[in-house]
Formats: sequence, structure tokens, C-alpha cells
Amino acid sequence: MRRLLHVVGARPNFMKAAPVLAAGRRRGVESILVHTGQHYDHAMSESFFRDLGLPPADENLGVGSGTHAEQTARIMLGFEPVLDRHQPDWVIVYGDVNSTIACALVAAKKGIRIAHVEAGLRSRDWGMPEEVNRVLTDRLADLLLTPSRDGDANLLAEGIPAERIRFVGNVMVDTLLSLRGRARDLGVPRSMGLEPDRYVFVTLHRPSNVDDRDTLAELLAALDDLSGDLTVCFAVHPRTRRKMAEFGLAPRSESVRLLEPLGYLETVGLVEQAALVLTDSGGLQEETTVLGVPCLTARPNTERPVTVTEGTNRLVASTRAAVGAGVAAVLRDRKTGGAGPRRPEGWDGQAGERVIEAILAAGPVTTA
Ligand code: UD1
Repeated sequence: MRRLLHVVGARPNFMKAAPVLAAGRRRGVESILVHTGQHYDHAMSESFFRDLGLPPADENLGVGSGTHAEQTARIMLGFEPVLDRHQPDWVIVYGDVNSTIACALVAAKKGIRIAHVEAGLRSRDWGMPEEVNRVLTDRLADLLLTPSRDGDANLLAEGIPAERIRFVGNVMVDTLLSLRGRARDLGVPRSMGLEPDRYVFVTLHRPSNVDDRDTLAELLAALDDLSGDLTVCFAVHPRTRRKMAEFGLAPRSESVRLLEPLGYLETVGLVEQAALVLTDSGGLQEETTVLGVPCLTARPNTERPVTVTEGTNRLVASTRAAVGAGVAAVLRDRKTGGAGPRRPEGWDGQAGERVIEAILAAGPVTTA
């Protein structure tokens, strides 16, 4: 029997690992769950384990925050003895966070096979720490499991052999489809006094948006502008909260509600009934596409192009004027009916099963 060791560390990993762990459980596969502790606040970690029904981690490395070098190094040092102890056949890493590349690098040097879930995505923006993590993780992985066909094309163009690449679809959509009903039943918008389609849900945390004072000031001014027509629900990431305090910035309008980071079910419940979402998150670009909610992504590029070509996503510059124009375009399209979203291929709730199938079907374990 194959022994699989799954690595999670930061908020966006948890909803990707949950359906793969569940599919492994259904097949009787032995799974070990390692949490690096990259995210550690209750709202950023534990609440997701509860909402997603994840089993408690078998190991927690407790690495916490730090510079990229500090965090990556601490994860590597903590992960090496864990690998020695558990001797898995495969290490499964998810997405593009520092935990992903750190554990892939340790596993590669130990000759343990690596499967990368969400392989092949490219923003072609080398200034994004996640892009560095994606490209290098894909270079190390033995099995590259892609969420969309553009991922396959990107990997082939980089010279990755086709036999290592498997299109499996989007595992995060498995989680969304299975928990959407529970999220709705919580009635979060109503309990916050929000009317469906009368509010915008906002998240902003990318260093490129929040670490620069002028950019953050522009985005907060855009929220003030928006709050004339809509209530603004802004779930503030810890990084963003720290930067707002450091720069002495805050929205001026009382119709901008600053919320603590939300749990998974609360987030999905709020997104589903929002008039639109303004974000720089990767996951929300995908979730809005599946839920059919218009999304404005405050970034110059996206590694998830199908959310634009097939879904509800539009890119806008991180300026007050561009966000204002984007919101006006969304509201205009809604009035005229706009083009409805199509769900991209493989975003069907079965991707976790296909991940496990692909790993089980991969050749015998070697230490090549
Ligand atoms: C990380 C990921 C990013 C992902 C994001 C989701 C990398 C390179 N970045 O960015 O891809 O979109 O998670 O949230 O891996 N903090 C807390 N509590 C926590 C975690 C963080 O207060 O539980 C604060 C710390 O002050 C920390 C800051 O947030 O310095 C940033 O956290 P960090 O994990 O370094 O990066 P994120 O910005 O969260």
C-alpha cells in the first residue's frame, strides 16, 4: 500500500488538501497530514480544519511568520526529520505558498517522489513570491497535477515531459461544491444585516497591493467611493491590518465594514450573495467563477486565466479610478444580463478522486 504524506501550511492549502485526503480515505490509502504552521492564528488555520472536516494534523512544525528565507529555512529544517520518521512513498504538496516549495525541496533531495496539486499555473510575474514557488516546485515534482488545460500547456512549454503531467481539474471546487449548501444555511449575510446583491465583499493581502503606502491608500479610497452605492464588507488579512496601522491608513466611510479574517463557510456564504467581489486572492477568483458572482481582481496579471476567459473575473489596476471603472462595468453588465459564466473543464467536484487515481496509477516507487 502507498503511504502518502500531505503538506499544508497556509490558509489556501486547507481547502485543496481536504478533498484529496477524503478521496484517499475512501480508497483505504494511508495518509499522513503535516501542518508546517506557516499560518497559525485560529482564524487563519484551526477554523478551516473545523469547517472543512480535516483530520487533526499528525505533525505540526510550528514555524510561524518571518522573512521568506527564515520561514522557508525553518520549514525545511522541521520537515526533514518528519520525512525520516514517516518514510512516505509520496509527498503531496499543494498550491504555491512557501510551505509548498520548502517541503518539495527537502523531499527531492531525499529521493522521495513529489506530487504537486495545482501545478502549471503561471502569472509570468517573477516579482510574486508565489510565482517563484510555482515554477521551482513544478521543476522538482515527479507528478504534476493541473487544474486547467493552460497548466498543461505551460508545463510542456517549459520542457516538462508529458508523462509527468496529468490534468485533474480543480480540487478547491470539490470543497466549494460540497460545502456550499452548509454555507448558505448559516445565513451569514442576513445575520450581518446585509441585503443580497447590495454589498461588495473585499479581500486584499498581496504584498504588491498592501506593502506600498500609495497603492494601499488608492485601494482604500476606492472602497470609500464604492460605499456610496453598496455596503463594503472588507475581511482584513493580518498583513493588511498591520500595514494599515503602520501607514496610518483607514477607510473614511462608515459603510466600509472592517471584518476580522473569516472562516471558510462564512466567506462562501458572503461571496454567494454579494453583488460583486473585489480581491487579489487566487482562490476567490476561482470561487466567484463557480458561484457566478462577478469578480474584480486588483492585479496586473493572473495565473488563473480561465477565470477571465470562461468565468466572471476581470483584472483591474490597483488604482481608485480603475476599480471605480471596473465596478461600473460590472453593474452595467448585470443590468443587461451580461455573458453568463461557464464552469471550466474539470471543475466538477471530482478532482480529489482524480488526484488519488493519478498517484496510485503512477509507476513503482524509485529513488532516481
Ligand atoms: C501567504 C502566502 C500567499 C497566500 C496567503 C494567504 C506565501 C509566499 N504567501 O501570504 O500566497 O495567498 O498566505 O493568506 O507563502 N500573520 C498572522 N497570523 C497568521 C499568519 C500570518 O498574524 O496566522 C501575519 C504575520 O504578521 C505575517 C503576515 O501575516 O508576517 C504575513 O503572513 P505570511 O504567511 O508571511 O504571508 P501571507 O501574506 O499570509
